[in-house]
This record gives sequence, C-alpha cells and structure tokens, in this order.
Amino acid sequence: MTQKIGIVTGGGDCPGLNAVIRAVTKAANLRGWDAVGVFGGFEGLLNPERCKTLCTRDLDGLLTRGGTVLGTANRGRFSAKTGHGEIRALPKDLLDDTQAGCAALGISALVCIGGDGTLTIANQLHKHGIPVVGVPKTIDNDVLGTETTFGFDSAVSCATDALDRLHSTAESHGRIMVLEVMGRYAGWIAAYAGLSGGADVILIPEIPFQYESICRKVKDRAARGRNFTMIVAAEGACPCGGELVTSTAQEANREARLGGVGNMIAAELQKLTGQEARCVVLGHLQRGGSPTAIDRALCTMFGTKAVELIADGRTGRMVSFIGGRITSMPLEEAGGGIRTVPTDSGLVKTARAIGVCFGD
Ligand code: F6P
Repeated sequence: MTQKIGIVTGGGDCPGLNAVIRAVTKAANLRGWDAVGVFGGFEGLLNPERCKTLCTRDLDGLLTRGGTVLGTANRGRFSAKTGHGEIRALPKDLLDDTQAGCAALGISALVCIGGDGTLTIANQLHKHGIPVVGVPKTIDNDVLGTETTFGFDSAVSCATDALDRLHSTAESHGRIMVLEVMGRYAGWIAAYAGLSGGADVILIPEIPFQYESICRKVKDRAARGRNFTMIVAAEGACPCGGELVTSTAQEANREARLGGVGNMIAAELQKLTGQEARCVVLGHLQRGGSPTAIDRALCTMFGTKAVELIADGRTGRMVSFIGGRITSMPLEEAGGGIRTVPTDSGLVKTARAIGVCFGD
C-alpha cells in the first residue's frame, strides 16, 4: 500500500538529524512512498503550510550537514518532560488536533526523531492512534532501549578535541583545567571524552564527588612532577550531598537547564590547592557541525530501519542498536526514563584501571 510518511525532528538538535531525514526519504521513495518534512517540530503537524513533500533535490548535502533542516523545539506545549525529567501527559485536545492534522495531510505514519522527551511524545501520539516509529537521537546517549544514539559519537569527538587542545595550555601554565561538557543527568560524554582525551579526573552525575579526593589527585600528580591536572566534568556532576547546578530559573513546560558546575569546581579547587584553575564550558559546540563518519552510518541504518518497520506494520516501536545490530524496541520502553552510566561498567573500570579519579 502506498504510504505518506511524516518526518518530525524534536528536542535539542544534534549532528546527524539531516542524515536520518535523508535516509528515511530515500528508503521511502524507493518503495514508491512519499516523505513529508514537518517543519518546526510537532507544532508543524497542526499547520499544513509547515509540511512539505521532500524531493531528491531537498536531500542534497544532507548527509554531512549539521542541525536539522526541518527545525526543532525543546519547549512549549508539546513538551513531554519538564523540570528534572518529570513526564507530562499531553492534553487530550492537543492529541486530537495532532491526529486531525496528520489525517488532513494524508500522513499514514510518523517518524519521530528525538531524545527521551520526543520519544515520550511519540509514545503518547502512538497510544492516541497515530502510527509512529521513533529514532533515538541525542548527544547525551541516555535513551533507554538502545546502546547508542546518533549524535553521541560526534559530541564525544568534539569534547575529545577540546581536551587535546586544553592539555597543552594546562601543561604550559601548570594549571588545573576543567572542561564542562553536556549530557544532562548522564555522564556518557564526560566518561568517553575523558577516556579518549586522557583526563586525570572524570566527574559524572552517577558518582557524587568530594573535593578532597580531587585535591589528593592533584597533589599526587605534583609529587610525580606533573604540575597540571585535566578534569572533565559532566554538567550534571554533583558534590556529595550537594545539588545539581542550573544555569537559569526553571521555565514552564521545559526541562531544567543545567550548567555552571565547571566554574564552581575550578573556583573551589583553586581555593583548596592554591594552584591556578580555569574552566571551559564547551556548550553547544558539542551539538553543532557535521556528524562523524560513525554517526552518518548509524543515521542511515536507523533511518532505513524506521521505514522497514512501517512497511512491516510494526509501528509503536523505536529503532535501536543492541549488541552490534540494528533492531527495535517498544516505544513505551524508550520514553520511561533515561539510561545512565553504570558505576560498575567496563567504561568506569577501565578508567579506574589507568588511575583516573572519579572524585569518590
Ligand atoms: O539533551 C541535549 C542537551 O544538549 C543536553 O546535553 C543539555 O543539557 C541540553 O540539551 C541543553 O539544551 P538547550 O539547547 O535548551 O540549551
């Protein structure tokens, strides 16, 4: 049966969104189906003028292009997560309007590309009767039901490059250098970049830290003639008994914005050790630019799998990467929470085995 597939990108942008849009469109077109780009996130489904059938020309350059040509939003009435990840049920009239919007556009199935928030919305739409397939996107790598999300590899590459660059300046000046990276409540970016970039200290939300432990590491290094220390701190890292550091006051219908822990750590360490400390907040650089080769391939595999699921009538699922294979999971499982770094994982054990301090 001929299908018209709507493609929506939701939540924060990240490298690879366009590569998925390209893969879904190409795979759909090859089956003789149409792919409709929905502009401006889920809001676009309520406005036919914000939806456009994508043609081959629209796909030019999309494999390598950062961001999303469809636009996206991580706030507003379609937010399914607020505060510190609390799930919000979308109002029934909004779900009804969205269903009517899809019907008016002739959309037979939606591909929703996004992180835990977007996948939670996708699940609510599916339960409301709109056939949906999810594609897990986020630099945070924290979506349940998949071992990796696209965008993560690109963010880790960016953070690793930053650590490489900061290394030489920290060494030249004999400083403590703190790199604050994103990741929300999960320490995947910090842990992987810390390992790849040779950090001496990795601070992640999953392991509350103590300043004394970090100071001991700084002193041990000094005793061995290493007069500088490289620290990578996840934005969600927290001192024992302390609170998450947020960068702005809580806004309605959006998740809390984390940020500022890096500067706090640098200031405290300078006070405690007497050694100069600096902090660099990597911020949205991690989300910008072209996806890495690994992410481009993953996006293409995810996009084509999403179309295959629709062809097989297996909606209500999210494509996922498990045990080296592209597979799928019920959407229900993806949106329920987030996947954090297990403190007994090989990743943490490996870092500890080479002497990395987690501040505990
Ligand atoms: O979820 C992706 C992410 O980049 C987080 O790592 C970060 O906390 C948040 O989004 C930042 O969101 P915003 O784009 O609203 O600043």
